[in-house]
Amino acid sequence: MSLAEDLYPTDTRTGKIKLHGPEGFAGMRVAGRLAAECLDMLTPHVKAGVTTLALDRLARDLILDAGALPACLYYRGYSNTLCISLNHVVCHGIPGERALRAGDIANIDVTVVVDGWHGDHSRMYAIGEIAPRARRLIDITYEAFELGLAQVRPGARLGDVGHAIQAHVEAQRCSVVRDFCGHGLGRVFHDAPNILHYGRPGTGEVLAPGMFFTIEPMVNLGKHQVKLLNDGWTAVTRDKSLSAQCEHSVGVTATGYEVFTQSPKGLFRPT
Ligand code: MF3
Ligand code: CO
Ligand code: CO
Repeated sequence: MSLAEDLYPTDTRTGKIKLHGPEGFAGMRVAGRLAAECLDMLTPHVKAGVTTLALDRLARDLILDAGALPACLYYRGYSNTLCISLNHVVCHGIPGERALRAGDIANIDVTVVVDGWHGDHSRMYAIGEIAPRARRLIDITYEAFELGLAQVRPGARLGDVGHAIQAHVEAQRCSVVRDFCGHGLGRVFHDAPNILHYGRPGTGEVLAPGMFFTIEPMVNLGKHQVKLLNDGWTAVTRDKSLSAQCEHSVGVTATGYEVFTQSPKGLFRPT
């Protein structure tokens, strides 16, 4: 997700929104499928005792073995394939020696590049038994995501997408993170437009066939404010409340949307 304020160069944020044709859809289908296969592959490994770095290596190897590239590796100085964001980490958690423990919730975010096309995708994972409030947060996050996605069609506005997400989250007395957002993507990892996960209906860019972007709401059990740790990447909730996220890469079609990062094994939503 882009830190709207300063993580990405201005020219990619103010640029025109690209409209892609059939070759773009074909390229994104291949990239999106590999991203989803990567998270499918990780699923049985995401359990108590495994380190987040071990998961990172599994993902890196699968991507390289497929002849693709991990987009995050060396991206703006980032040194890993995955972002693994545990519990009160909002996004951009750096894999390391921390082992997963029963009761943790984890977002795992992967971006692959295949033939120049970017597939950007994340899911939540529950490690062992998790607290009811953690389960509730994950459910609200996925529901909000689905409601936002359902707004995507030609003629709809980006504010419709953001509003659908925000309205559901806030009705459950949770909050939508403001400091990070979704983004256009394609041959560029983070492109125009910014996809805010809050907003007013009938405002923002008008969607048109051939636009590609991510929807990736971050939802906090407490307040929306985040802070950045000293590593320069890890974003956490200021109030230490739990945070959840999920992300798909999607394209606007003539009649609605296509999800490029659909799980071949049907594993997008945690069980
Ligand atoms: N995959 C993240 C996104 O959804 C971006 C991570 S950038 C990194 O946009 F450098 F932190 F990996
Ligand atoms: Co993204
Ligand atoms: Co991502």
